[in-house]
Amino acid sequence: MLRFDYRNLLANNYIPTAIENKRLDGFAGKCQEADQDIRRERQADILGFYTLPEYDTKHIKSYVSQLDPEFDTMVVLGIGGSALGNKALYNALKTELGLKRKLFVYDNVDPVYLQEILDSIDLQHCVFNVITKSGTTAETMAGYMILLDLIKKKFPQDYRKRVVITTDREKGFLRQVINNEGYSSFIVPDNVGGRFSVLTDVGLLSSAFVGMDIDKLLWGAGQMRQRCENQAILENPAYLNGLLHFLYMREGKNVSVMMPYSNSLYDFADWYRQLWAESLGKRYDRKGREVFVGQTPVKALGTTDQHSQVQLYAEGPRDKVFTFLTVEKFQHDFVIPNLHPERPEVSYLGGKKLSELLNAERFATEIALTRAGRPNCNLIFPEISEETLGEAIMMYEIQTVFTGKLLNIDPLDQPGVEAGKVATYALMGKAGFDKERNEIEEYKKL
Ligand code: PA5
Repeated sequence: MLRFDYRNLLANNYIPTAIENKRLDGFAGKCQEADQDIRRERQADILGFYTLPEYDTKHIKSYVSQLDPEFDTMVVLGIGGSALGNKALYNALKTELGLKRKLFVYDNVDPVYLQEILDSIDLQHCVFNVITKSGTTAETMAGYMILLDLIKKKFPQDYRKRVVITTDREKGFLRQVINNEGYSSFIVPDNVGGRFSVLTDVGLLSSAFVGMDIDKLLWGAGQMRQRCENQAILENPAYLNGLLHFLYMREGKNVSVMMPYSNSLYDFADWYRQLWAESLGKRYDRKGREVFVGQTPVKALGTTDQHSQVQLYAEGPRDKVFTFLTVEKFQHDFVIPNLHPERPEVSYLGGKKLSELLNAERFATEIALTRAGRPNCNLIFPEISEETLGEAIMMYEIQTVFTGKLLNIDPLDQPGVEAGKVATYALMGKAGFDKERNEIEEYKKL
């Protein structure tokens, strides 16, 4: 079970300026309102991610088991919420579980990156998973057209078995492609937004393909959901962390640094970055008033970034809240041999495990930041597993929605992202975007 150590988010001898425990009581009413709002939306089937622990995964397992055994690689084409969860899960577990099948995620339109992926795969052994909820995102559509063209030409007889599409149940251009071509397909549920969709077909299909036990992911998510039903705020990690981050935002701490001490969890921090940024960064509140809220999520890697960022974190502006991700037990470890027992410069390391050094350095950074009066917390993974990842995903999804309620904004929309999509359509000559195209012409004259 994940453990959440929030002691350094609350005022103590080292961080007297942090939020006082008793201040939380003053927000009990606001938290209760947010909780009631969430419960209402769950009833109304708006917050679909809450129901995913009960999701029936038979169709996914059946698809994977019937796939041609020659497929040992999946290439996901998707972006944002249609990509980041896949990467987070795969990179967290590929080495810990010794996954045999490979996953590549093409989530950009960088031609060199596409070439790199093509250089690393054998088309013969690849299945391509196009993921897009809207079915229109330019980046995903571009990758889809390039790769489909490639495999149609290379495998004219059986290209269909090499493609699977994950999109809306009925709407969108890709659903028509599925119907016309007869590709296998999966669904992004209506009531689960892109960045909340990792525990739907969006993230589960690639995870099952590479060999994860996806039911364990959902089980972990269910355990966390259960913990987060607790009305006692100190027992509810998502609500507590949400409330504390909300209070720090009000004090001008507008940067949230997530620092895993584990390369495997680095992409989890990237997933979090999208969830937190896109959900909470909003211009208007629910009453239409301009508020310009949000907290900039930053990812840093322990120990690597101790030699790059921690100077700033300890002595720079007091605008940050820190979250460490700690792993207690790694599946792989190394004992450092005592190569120079006579030399005190290095002999203290001899006989110690790498994981011991890693976690000592994590603790050292915590102490340094705490002594410097910087609020920080620690999410402790007893190990990196499907269960603990499921827990962490559910915790942050609930925390994000709860914090959105406290901020009185809509955490489920993304008008800023949509504006960027529209401008791209206009620039690239898509029909129906003449007005935007004319506006851009005016902009160019400036
Ligand atoms: O969270 C979101 O809604 C976005 O990040 C989307 O996931 C992203 O823009 C991709 O959209 P789509 O899945 O429609 O291609």
